[in-house]
Amino acid sequence: MSTSPWNKDSWKLFPAMQQVDWPDKEQYVNVLQQITDLPPLVFAGEIRKLRKLIADAAEGRGFLLQGGDCAEEFKECTALTIRETMKVILQMAVVMTFAGEKPVIKVGRIAGQYAKPRSSPVEIRDGVELPSFRGDMVNASDFTKEARNPDCKRLLDGYFHSASSLNILRAFTRGGYASLEKVHAWNKEFLKQSKEGKSYEELAFQIEKALTFMRVIGFEPEKVPQLSEVNFYTSHEALLLGYEEALTRQDSLTGIWYDCSAHLLWIGDRTRQVDGAHVEFLRGVHNPIGIKIGPDHDLDDLKRILDTLNPNNESGRMVIITRFGKEKIATYLPPLLRSIKEHGAKVLWSCDPMHGNTFTSDSNYKTRNFNDILMEIRHFFEIHYAEGTVPGGVHFELTGKDVTECMGGAQEIMDHHLENNYATSCDPRLNAQQSLELAFLIADMLKR
Ligand code: PEP
Ligand code: CO
Repeated sequence: MSTSPWNKDSWKLFPAMQQVDWPDKEQYVNVLQQITDLPPLVFAGEIRKLRKLIADAAEGRGFLLQGGDCAEEFKECTALTIRETMKVILQMAVVMTFAGEKPVIKVGRIAGQYAKPRSSPVEIRDGVELPSFRGDMVNASDFTKEARNPDCKRLLDGYFHSASSLNILRAFTRGGYASLEKVHAWNKEFLKQSKEGKSYEELAFQIEKALTFMRVIGFEPEKVPQLSEVNFYTSHEALLLGYEEALTRQDSLTGIWYDCSAHLLWIGDRTRQVDGAHVEFLRGVHNPIGIKIGPDHDLDDLKRILDTLNPNNESGRMVIITRFGKEKIATYLPPLLRSIKEHGAKVLWSCDPMHGNTFTSDSNYKTRNFNDILMEIRHFFEIHYAEGTVPGGVHFELTGKDVTECMGGAQEIMDHHLENNYATSCDPRLNAQQSLELAFLIADMLKR
């Protein structure tokens, strides 16, 4: 555990897992220098606002909704794709806020989720072995030797795709599109006939009535930021430390360091070693930090990680994202909650019901079952309520599109449907209807 002085490259003194061996070292240094000279992607004031919201949610005065692609793709950096992802998150949030009666913090896995840790460094297809796809910021997903070669110019492409994504997100959320008066417009044509789409229309209708009433009594919704705008935050896994370091900036107002590549950064289940480079890097930046925790963890290690990342036990700093799977959550979550409670660490508890429930279907697609996802979320809420802790958020891999990647849900997607529109470049995502269905179910759990 490091107690030595931190600076933005002190992580280099520690072992770093899941890094890339860039073939052209000189070009790599050059690219990082260019990113260092470019403007920050997000701003310290926004990050501070998010920390405040997370601090509230950790005490039950809010709920964190984090979601987006497993791996974003450069070619999907379009106004349409970004708008559809944002829309489904806004729909889910409004359902959870209205039916669940909690303010919802909206955080996308978006505008920078371009680098992936992999369980194997190589992929074998029909006897051919190539390096694994590591995300668009590293290599390309096509199964050829050229495509799989790491290319550090992709780091710069990642920066610019993040900047474009953020730009359109800011326009959508500030320019009236995310206004509550547009709540009907967030529904999607292909959803309208489904049960979820209809329930959503009903809820939107009630919100509209409330807004009309406010207008009648002389209130102007467009002048109230809470009604006319949305705060939408970005997040990704802080994996490639050279890139994250290049976007780490000192706030001119406070002198405090922030990683300005996204508002919230998380450490993956594979890179959270207490003596590792990821923990060392993130301990010095003041963003809210997520840590993914799967079944393979050590409670004492975890306490040391929390002490390292949050030595003053500040609220709003730590988000623990558990991802045990529907079978294992009952074994692992209660001792974890007790141990952290006894330690006195302030954290927001979030549930990732995706990564512990992945399997390969008979037709050989990597998939997840809607019911398994739902079951892990139910267990998550029940266990927290039983332990007297706060179930503070959820973390999904989802898309606003009508894909067929996860099985089940009201659409009853079966194994033989997966091939219809299986579009992910990494893990299977919930589609828009499955996401909305979960939002209604979670709203009920929130209201308890
Ligand atoms: C992910 O969130 O895509 C991921 C790789 O998760 P984990 O680190 O929990 O396996
Ligand atoms: Co994933």
